[in-house]
Amino acid sequence: MEKNIIWHKVLDNKNDLPEGRVMTVTAGHKGICLVHYKNKFCTLDNKCPHQGGPLGEGSIEKGMIRCPWHGWDFHPCGGSAEGFDDDLASYELKIEGEAIYVGLE
Ligand code: FES
Repeated sequence: MEKNIIWHKVLDNKNDLPEGRVMTVTAGHKGICLVHYKNKFCTLDNKCPHQGGPLGEGSIEKGMIRCPWHGWDFHPCGGSAEGFDDDLASYELKIEGEAIYVGLE
């Protein structure tokens, strides 16, 4: 069955998120952590699986996203924290012109 995806514009200009940085964006009513890492943009659930810390307020340290609350590390484009198996959801993303869109089902 085809997925019903609704695209939300989350950033007007992708240059507003420099390489190696993360930010919180909103798609619909959902907070999403937007990542720019190694020339790639990707998305993660903005809630840290530990206690729900806002990953979009975190930073990238040594190639991992660090949660601002207690410092758990996550792979920037999805996958588990090191040594833990809490997988973070990620969302569809597309770039049109300069704008970034996130697709939610
Ligand atoms: S809430 Fe993210 S490390 Fe605790």
